This record gives sequence, C-alpha cells and structure tokens, in this order.
Amino acid sequence: MSRTILRGRVLSFHRAPQDLDDTESYLYLADGAISIEEDKVVAVGDFASADLAGAQVVDHRPNLILPGFIDLHLHYVQSQMMAAYAGSLLEWLNTYTFIEEQKFSQQGHADAVAVEFYDALIRHGTTTAVAYCSSHPRSVDAFFAEAQCRNMLMVGGKVMMDRNAPEELCDTAQSGYDDTKALIARWHGRGRGLYAISPRFAITSTPAQLEASRALVAEHPDCYVQTHLSENDAEISFSMELYPNSPDYTGIYEDYGLLGPKTLLGHSIHLNHREVGVLAETGAVAVFCPTSNLFLGSGLFDRDRLMQNGVRIGIATDIGGGTSVSMLRTLDEGYKVLQLRGQRLNPLASFHMATRGNAEALGLQETIGSIAPGRAADLVVLDARATPTMRMRRFETLIEELFLLQTMGDDRAIAEVYVAGARAKSTLGGL
Ligand code: GUN
Ligand code: ZN
Repeated sequence: MSRTILRGRVLSFHRAPQDLDDTESYLYLADGAISIEEDKVVAVGDFASADLAGAQVVDHRPNLILPGFIDLHLHYVQSQMMAAYAGSLLEWLNTYTFIEEQKFSQQGHADAVAVEFYDALIRHGTTTAVAYCSSHPRSVDAFFAEAQCRNMLMVGGKVMMDRNAPEELCDTAQSGYDDTKALIARWHGRGRGLYAISPRFAITSTPAQLEASRALVAEHPDCYVQTHLSENDAEISFSMELYPNSPDYTGIYEDYGLLGPKTLLGHSIHLNHREVGVLAETGAVAVFCPTSNLFLGSGLFDRDRLMQNGVRIGIATDIGGGTSVSMLRTLDEGYKVLQLRGQRLNPLASFHMATRGNAEALGLQETIGSIAPGRAADLVVLDARATPTMRMRRFETLIEELFLLQTMGDDRAIAEVYVAGARAKSTLGGL
C-alpha cells in the first residue's frame, strides 16, 4: 500500500480551547509528519521520528497543516448570486434568490453550478459543507454526484417550500415528502454523502409541510435536519402570524418535532430566554453566519449568551447571503460581529470552530475535523505569507500567525488542499 508523508507544521484540536494559554486543547508540531494511507491518516508525530520507509514525502514547510475547513450552512444554488443588492432578508429572497433558484429546474444548469461550487470550496480550503439545494430534486442529484466524483464528505438536501414563493419553486407537502424520501434512498450514506431534511423556514412551509417534515425526521433519525431560525425581525413577525399558536419562532419547529442534536439552525440571532433553553435542552445547533448577518443587516449573533446557556454552536458562510466562500473571511467577520457585542473570539477558538467544532456540531468528530490516526485525510495547508501585505505583518507566535490568517487571509492563503488523501487544489489548474 502506498504511503504519503506530509511534512510541515501541524495544528489539530482535541477540544474547544478555554483561552489562549490552553495548550492542552490542541496538538502543535513545529516539524510534523502526517502519514497517509489511501484516504486516511495513519500516524501523526514529529518528522524526526517518522517511519519514512517506502513513503513519498511532500514538504509543506514552513506552512501550517490543519484539518480541512467545515462550512455548516450554505446554499450551493446561490453560488452565482452572491453580492445581490438588497436591503434586507425578505426583499433579498423575493427579488433575487427565488428567481435564481428557479434556474435549477434545468439539469444542465445544476450540473454546471455544482462543478463551479466545488471548485470554489476547494480553492478556499473547505473540504466539507452542509448545503441547501433548490426545491428541484435534480439539484440534489447534481450536488451529491459531483461530491462523489471528488470523494468529498458533503451534507445536503432538497429545500422543501410550499408557500410564499413563486409557484415554479413550490412543492407540496406530499411531493416534498415523496421527493425527500426518494433522495434519502438515493444519496444518504452513498459514498461520503449524508442527507439533511431541509424545510426552508416557517414562512415557506405550511403546517402540512412541517407535519410531513416531522414524519421524515421520525422515519430517518440518522439524517440531519436544517432550517433557518430568527434571522431578521420582519421574518420573525411574519412567522408568528403564520403560526399564532406557537409560543415563539423556536416553538414552531419544536411543535413539529424538528429539534434534536442533528438539527442545524441557521442564524439563531434574536432569541428569547425560553428559546435559548429549548435549544440547549434539545441539543440543536445554532449556526453563526457572520458575513451574511452583516450583509443583510440581520443582527449580531450572541455567542457568549448561547454558550453560557449550553447551546451548541457552529459557524458558516451562508453563501449567497454570505459574501465569501472563505472560512478565513468568515472567521474575520465573526470576530468583528462579536467585537460589536463586546465579546472576544480568540484565534484558537475560531480555528477550533471552523474545524473540530463544526465536526462536533455534526457528530462527525471521529471522522473529520482533526488530524489523528483513523481520521479522513481531509486537510488544508495555510500560508500566512501568501500576499505582500500579509508579509508586511511579522509574526512570532502561533497565535499571531492564526490571527493574521483569519484577519487578512483568503483563498490566496490556501497553499494546498487534500481530500481523502489526494491533492485537490493543485488539480484545479488555472481556476
Ligand atoms: N431564510 C430562508 N431562506 C434563506 C436563504 O436562502 N438565505 C438566508 N440567509 N436566509 C434564509
Ligand atoms: Zn441560509
């Protein structure tokens, strides 16, 4: 069996760091060796003591090797409509998004966008993402088929939406259920694909559709659930008009049995005390989408409050409401959002969140998100001297380097990417 050894500086987290001095929370090797056989890491340690016999050595020094980034919430079908000039969420959805997503009734379009989307992910060092497709089953086929070609661990699902959107985009409670069932049968657990049952949000799902979603979740407890929660004030008011018997927005999803440890709730910004308690109790994950929240003027995520109350948290780009595919740019904007809240996000905590933290949010920490024997060899190689401006900023410590990468880094700082043990970025050519 052929063996590859990646030489370089290595950083991988064991758990969430409590503060900048929490050196027990991570593994850092100044001159490390990651041994890879086929698609897995088989050993990690100092290069000086690595078994080099029969191995091909790839030298990434002085760059830093981390687990590939994980993006916990995005819309691949919005890849071509980032930077749409809209005032706020509902205007943005109605004016641009629902028009754009109608294009995915064409298989050729879905296939072409899926290729571009995965190229963009790889270019930015993201090796796993959780995605909304459009309401068309063929958009899901394109999404998973392309992931399979690239051997990527991807989570996704067909958006279910049966009201308050153009007719061309709407399914029905029954067809949304039937299509989702067929897609789960086709894609969940095939290759590295995992399915997420995806009622878009309360505004675009009738009670009958949320009832159908409840049935899907009960019948497929091993699938994820993803939806949007409390992103914007007008969205919250409209949702409560549509579901007047629920105590609050979170209560709508709670009433339909949609909250659990496999549930990912995009945004989760404006929550009352009861809602925070429900998220903590059910183990549902609040997903922080900073570039999107700033772009659409939605509000400031309250990380400290959620963490202090025991809510699980992840971080994501939310393309195309988000303004960058880059998890480095996302960490930077996340830092700034929390500054405005008077909160600090230390660089160890941010890189933990984008790797192991998001893997834990998915319950996949034994598979991805860290570098250890038995884990998938999904890796990113970061270059903190990638641009002339970055080179102007001298750094001495690992913490300074990480903070420079998140504050000034983008796709130019991604030196190489490995997916399931194979070089991925260098195969993109001129893209
Ligand atoms: N809420 C419902 N759908 C969407 C979407 O596509 N993007 C964002 N940011 N919020 C949503
Ligand atoms: Zn979203």
